[in-house]
Amino acid sequence: MAATNDILAKDRAHMLHPLHHPSAHQEPLIFESGHGVWMRTVDGREMIDGLAGLWNVLMGHGNVELADAARDQMASLAYCSSYVGSGNIPAIELADRMAGWAYPSLNTTFFTSGGAESNESAFKTVRYYWRRLGKPEKVKVIAREQAYHGITLATMSATGMTGFWPMFEPRVPNFLHIPAPNPYRYSGDVKPGETIGQAAARALEEAILREGPETVGAFIAEPVQGAGGVIVPPEDYFPLVRQICDKYEVLFIADEVITGFGRTGDWFGLTRYGIEPDIMSFAKGVTSGYLPLGGIQISDKIRDVIMNAPANERWMHAFTYSGHPTCAAVALKNIELLERVDAAGNAAKMGKRLLDGLHGLAEEFPIIGDVRGQGLICAIELVADRETRQPAGLGNDVREAALERGFFTRAIGDIIAFAPPLIITADEIDQSVQMVGEAIAAVQARQA
Ligand SMILES: Cc1ncc(COP(=O)(O)O)c(C=O)c1O
Repeated sequence: MAATNDILAKDRAHMLHPLHHPSAHQEPLIFESGHGVWMRTVDGREMIDGLAGLWNVLMGHGNVELADAARDQMASLAYCSSYVGSGNIPAIELADRMAGWAYPSLNTTFFTSGGAESNESAFKTVRYYWRRLGKPEKVKVIAREQAYHGITLATMSATGMTGFWPMFEPRVPNFLHIPAPNPYRYSGDVKPGETIGQAAARALEEAILREGPETVGAFIAEPVQGAGGVIVPPEDYFPLVRQICDKYEVLFIADEVITGFGRTGDWFGLTRYGIEPDIMSFAKGVTSGYLPLGGIQISDKIRDVIMNAPANERWMHAFTYSGHPTCAAVALKNIELLERVDAAGNAAKMGKRLLDGLHGLAEEFPIIGDVRGQGLICAIELVADRETRQPAGLGNDVREAALERGFFTRAIGDIIAFAPPLIITADEIDQSVQMVGEAIAAVQARQA
């Protein structure tokens, strides 16, 4: 059902949307309001937001306490510069609140307005760090296939979803990609006796050696790959990655833009492995998406290099909206709320219920080839045949059928992603699973 003609006419005449093509905007959903996990369109359709906006609306929609935090800060000081020599209380309090929270050695924060700016900041900080240590040739960044790190030129070049590249070539040099640690579809070679986690970590070591460790500055990874297909790595992967990075003096950037702030059932994505990155990028969930905010946290050793630089080698990196007081005030309130409702604990509990429900669907529908997830970032992958794992080519059909039933999410090819707000209830999880089950049944009935 289309939105009102008037709004649609203005939209088509004047708006360029992310990933724009007019063919994909024939009958757009125009959202008007939301409450908890539910969203409502201007033409009165209600649906569960199965992707929490874009993986970010952790506290759900319509949260008045977040709105009040923004209003209060705006009424007193909406904006001021955080350029060196000035600052504001909410941004300072937020940096203090976040110090050591995710990882004990990450105690210093630089704020941005979103994920791509965060990863850009991380890449530039890597260059800065090695240059200051007399190793300016360490500029290469190793990323993974199916990674998503943003769409500015450098972050697009780090992104391993190749569809983002062709019309914007040439990419920024010195970004390369190794296979993702995808237990269901590993694209690299696995030696006899090796686990996929070991093979994928070996791919990192081999890439570093091939390129020359003296040229490799950093490795970047999402703890759970989101946009590239909800890829949950094997348990042995990240500890090996950390060892390899240490061995060859390669900085490890954790892109926690999706996984940070409770999504995986832990507050941050790598704590379950007992390891720490050198830089963490964050965004999205830090404000539950209520205002644009992101940042990087840097390790104490990187901080020392910045703090001890001569003035003519200062860290010459900045954004107008770095440390935006209103965004920071909303983030502080959001973190308070996430803790109050134990969002990470609920993600762990509801994530398990969701996975159980999806496994139940897999018993019913052989078209589901794989069920995976960690906390409340889960997926099913549709296949034509479980043996061959050939794609079913039905992801979008199932997505649309689920939407008709009141469950809104995204299909990444044949992968249906589930990443609802972290405040979701057991009943809403069950409704989601039921709607997706009915959607699969309907699509299959149409095919028969
Ligand atoms: C892991 C990851 N990194 C970076 C980004 C880019 O963030 P933004 O769209 O805020 O620039 C995203 C966005 O989805 C993401 O999922």
